[in-house]
Amino acid sequence: MKISTITAHEILDSNGKPTLEVEVRLEDGTRALGQVPSGASTGKFEAVELRDGDQTRYFGKGVLGAVENVNVKLNQLLVGQDASDQTNIDRLMIEADGTDNKANLGANAMVGTSMAVCRAAARSQKMPLYRYFGQLSGQTQFQLPQPMILIMEGGKHGNWATDIQEFMIVPQRDKFSSFREMLRSGAEIFHTLGELLAEKKYSVGVGFEGAYAPEQLHSNQEAFDLIIQACERAGYKPGVQITLAVDIAASEFYGDNNYQLKSENNRVLTAEEWQEQVISWTNQYPLTSVEDPFNQDDWTDWSALTAQIGNKIQIVGDDLVVTNVKLIQQAIDQRAMNATLIKPNQIGTITETLAAIKLSSEAGFQSVVSHRSGETNDDLIANLVVGTTASQSKFGGPDRGERLAKYNRLLRIERELTNHQ
Ligand code: PGA
Ligand code: ZN
Repeated sequence: MKISTITAHEILDSNGKPTLEVEVRLEDGTRALGQVPSGASTGKFEAVELRDGDQTRYFGKGVLGAVENVNVKLNQLLVGQDASDQTNIDRLMIEADGTDNKANLGANAMVGTSMAVCRAAARSQKMPLYRYFGQLSGQTQFQLPQPMILIMEGGKHGNWATDIQEFMIVPQRDKFSSFREMLRSGAEIFHTLGELLAEKKYSVGVGFEGAYAPEQLHSNQEAFDLIIQACERAGYKPGVQITLAVDIAASEFYGDNNYQLKSENNRVLTAEEWQEQVISWTNQYPLTSVEDPFNQDDWTDWSALTAQIGNKIQIVGDDLVVTNVKLIQQAIDQRAMNATLIKPNQIGTITETLAAIKLSSEAGFQSVVSHRSGETNDDLIANLVVGTTASQSKFGGPDRGERLAKYNRLLRIERELTNHQ
């Protein structure tokens, strides 16, 4: 079905910052939206998010330029094209942009358009979006993801309550009968942790991604200890039913060849000492997944850690590879990680996102589909994780509507699959 118009508007994301909503209309009257997320702790090599820089609006963060690129350039380029040929749509945009990093049209303009086209094509074919992703990626089997559920946050997302940016619990698939039950464990542990924090008179406000960010914590270690306690008090066995995952987002506290722990009185560690610290946490706690353990440029440190503990722990590359197949290939060649974080807006099109998942899969890497710290209620990524070989999701805490939009979509997909498969 052919595209008849593409329009965009400036809307706000979950942090009250401007972003784009793109609407695609097809000749058969189908309409669909794509709402663009935005990161705070972004990788250096992510595709470029166009911001206006006009200090008189939203402190320079407006996206009217990107909106204009959709309304004029992308509309002209794509009207009359077949929406169900996603590869062609994305290729046309990439060629029109003409840069390596989407700096010309803007990755935000492009990904919003790519998302809206994809959703419109699925809708026009009366196909649920996860099934459409299955069609695009040659998958006929659909599986709900194993969720990494955020319960505590720090770093840039949570007032530097801890240096580690995200503490997540991971319900073990073989210990739960359904996704719904895995999610229930996450919500129960989250609320139990809230109770524990309140007892200690720690703050129970949440960070960007819907999890507790108590500034009163004394160390990263204390966060781990409280989480273990919350699991037990909620009636779950850590290390058996529930394991832990972290996104360290280490580039955010790396400087002068050192890791500087703000939440621990600015304790400074060399890369070697930091590696020992990370490994000691993996020995002390039932940690099964560690994302961005090192600075994004220090590939040899990544390879050394993967060689040392990669056979028992998942090492996830986010800032290191930014959903970019060239960097993922480099990580495969250098054995720098063993799992890939997938964020469509890091690379700028659906086609390239699917290619990143495919390459990771072929290398034997798991893919973790992820939200951004700045989100909208768009639930495309919930469909993406079910419709592809990606097997894990990272959609934040069981709190804040823009996170629940994804979890609740997964619950709906699970109901649909159990009735019809
Ligand atoms: P971001 O954080 O969206 O702020 O980049 C998410 C992550 O680091 O995984
Ligand atoms: Zn990350």
